[in-house]
Amino acid sequence: MTSMIYPTTNPAMSETMVVARAEGPYIYDKQGKRYLEGMAGLWCTALGYGNGEIIEAAERQMRELSFSHMFGGKTHPSAIELADKLAAMVPMQDGRVFLGSSGSDANDTLLKLIRYHAETSGQPDRIKVIAREQGYHGVTLASAALTAIPTNHAHFQLPFEALGVLRTGSANYYRGANDGESEADFVARRAEELEALILAEGPETIAAMIAEPVSGAGGVIVPPEGYFEAIQTVLDRYGVWLWDDEVICGFGRLGTDFGANKMSMRPKMMTLAKALSSAYVPVSAAIVQGDIADCINASATEVGVFGHGYTYSGHPLGCAVASKVIDIYVRDKIFDHAATVGDYLQARLNEFADHPLVGEVSGVGMIGAVELVADKASRQPFDGMKVGQFCAKAAEDNGLVIRPLGGNRVAVCPPLIIETTHVDELMEKFGAALNLTLDWVTAERLI
Ligand SMILES: Cc1ncc(COP(=O)(O)O)c(C=O)c1O
Repeated sequence: MTSMIYPTTNPAMSETMVVARAEGPYIYDKQGKRYLEGMAGLWCTALGYGNGEIIEAAERQMRELSFSHMFGGKTHPSAIELADKLAAMVPMQDGRVFLGSSGSDANDTLLKLIRYHAETSGQPDRIKVIAREQGYHGVTLASAALTAIPTNHAHFQLPFEALGVLRTGSANYYRGANDGESEADFVARRAEELEALILAEGPETIAAMIAEPVSGAGGVIVPPEGYFEAIQTVLDRYGVWLWDDEVICGFGRLGTDFGANKMSMRPKMMTLAKALSSAYVPVSAAIVQGDIADCINASATEVGVFGHGYTYSGHPLGCAVASKVIDIYVRDKIFDHAATVGDYLQARLNEFADHPLVGEVSGVGMIGAVELVADKASRQPFDGMKVGQFCAKAAEDNGLVIRPLGGNRVAVCPPLIIETTHVDELMEKFGAALNLTLDWVTAERLI
């Protein structure tokens, strides 16, 4: 035991792994054992580890200007360059960018911008936000309230009502469909439920609906065909903005620049982090469409200052690294590479569909998961998380990092730079871990 309190960990546990160094898509522990990083860290190290160009860009920036804040309109060239690059890239007209250092803080920023907009636009009640079951949006008090994962709610008495958080069903067809319900009927039902919620709460009180294009931490839940088109139609009918949390899906994860373009979303607000800097340094962006910012600007002088900002909003290091990372994505056509290798990864992952323990295989591009079930035909789940945890540990013992999620789903989300040979290594080790898990659940009489 060290003097550390670990994040998202049972505090009574001791250290599980000491990661000493990393290169490309591999990490090495203190004993020198190599692991294929099948989770890109926490869904974030898109360009892998040890990229010399990014390291040089970071060093250059630190020598030139190691810090400058952004309060009161003070700024610096790297921040302006990054904001302009992002505004030109996102699927949104005339985006305006607020910089931070994590996905959670960017979501907090957007929640506050919604409230500031409500006041400046003379609609003080328009502050509620609809969030989905199984969504993950961070862990600060506000973003954890948007999140809908039980572990992130337990013990914290989160202020859901004060924050105006409303909940609607997830896009999880495998677990959410009624008996015999087709995908199309499931999608139509989710859209009807959303409309009913908006009408019950009063459309004039609802500002936005937050959604990940593919829910990551909730289990890698890929929406069925036509889902976001149906949701978007309802939102447009009542003037509710789509708030697109791209913290995992942004920058190539689904094989496109942004998840919104893969999933036919038309966002008015976006959250970016993780692959924005390929996780070389902490940086995030909260982006709103120009008309929202213009509306705020029109009466901001009357209402008073937007009293929200972090010391590290627009930190020069984060800005320089993110700018360089975006240049590499574009120059090396990383999103196209992710689409091509992603197709191969999905095909290989789908080979597990016949495995006796696998109830569902889900995924798109370079993200995927399997759900482990006690009975395939009835979809009977296992209790707790221990089967997924066993599987991930078996993979780790064999030199592969994958991640157990709630509902005994096990996720893969490798760096985007991997080649098909790495996919083969990943699947071979994942398959071996699944077989060991089957032996174990059989011996333990869990099936
Ligand atoms: C979709 C999504 N939004 C927000 C967050 C929060 O980001 P951070 O952990 O950087 O605060 C995460 C983190 O995994 C995420 O997956």
